[in-house]
Amino acid sequence: MRVFVTRVIPEAGLGLLRERCEVEVWPGDGPPAREEIMRRAPELDGILAMLTDRMDAEFMDAAPRLRVISNYAVGFDNVDVPAATERGIAVGNTPGVLTETTADLAFALLMAVARLIVPGVEYAKSGQWRTWDPMALLGRDVHHATLGIVGLGRIGTEVAKRGHGFDMKVIYCSRSRRSETERELGLEYRDSLEALLREADFVSLHTPLTPETRHLINGRTLKLMKPTAALINTTRGPVVDTEALYEALTAGTIWAAGLDVTDPEPLAADHKLLRLDNCVVVPHIGSASVDSRDAMARLAAENLLAGLEGRPLKASPNLEVVSRETR
Ligand code: DGY
Repeated sequence: MRVFVTRVIPEAGLGLLRERCEVEVWPGDGPPAREEIMRRAPELDGILAMLTDRMDAEFMDAAPRLRVISNYAVGFDNVDVPAATERGIAVGNTPGVLTETTADLAFALLMAVARLIVPGVEYAKSGQWRTWDPMALLGRDVHHATLGIVGLGRIGTEVAKRGHGFDMKVIYCSRSRRSETERELGLEYRDSLEALLREADFVSLHTPLTPETRHLINGRTLKLMKPTAALINTTRGPVVDTEALYEALTAGTIWAAGLDVTDPEPLAADHKLLRLDNCVVVPHIGSASVDSRDAMARLAAENLLAGLEGRPLKASPNLEVVSRETR
């Protein structure tokens, strides 16, 4: 069985694949060009894809043998899942194994933004630190502030726990109310995004990117936030309207932002967001710990092998698919 892995991933996953398949790993520093993927499509039984690879109907139609697309990410907005389902192609993703690591990063961004860590480092490095200054680098308290979680899935719940540990008041809004988690973690439910935005000091986004959540945070919704509030995004860039965010950060509509994901991604080095003191941007590293990436590699490889062998995938947004071979 021939599989294509579109980037070098940890050996924990590659090793599993090599035991059972003929594996080609794209050796480049960046993603393979679309033509490289399309050129291989006719021969592929499986593909282990990154969130940067567009897995659409055109690719699937060019790959008549393809039985499984295993995405090396929990998010799968790069995969046309209905098109895969229609064609009997199983889709895998990697939930669970990166939850806490991503929540840690969301909280790190929250802390960095609140306590001006990046400007503080710059201040020290640039020679501005001449004496202890009673008025320099005054941030905002995290403890006892209100944390608003938008989307109480796995990662949102872990961020809520971290907020709880810092004595924050934690409120959330979500597609469905999670009464048990609410009780366990002492959370408060808000029945609309608007209500949450008006109240939170820190807003952390955890909704998947769908047509409904694209630009959920836009010019209108940003205006609902407090001028002292900060926005944290570790989900997908397009959940936030970049232009509107830039406006809000420069006009003082909101106080600050911490972004692990952006739209576009990557941001050009001279992008205007990167020049703002009140915006901390890191390059989509939510799951980037040694252990989480090993676990993602293993799970993505297991999903791929399951799909190739006609077994149910460990994690899949279209579990109902019986792959091409076994239909
Ligand atoms: C995901 O898994 O969806 C992250 O964005 C990358 O780890």
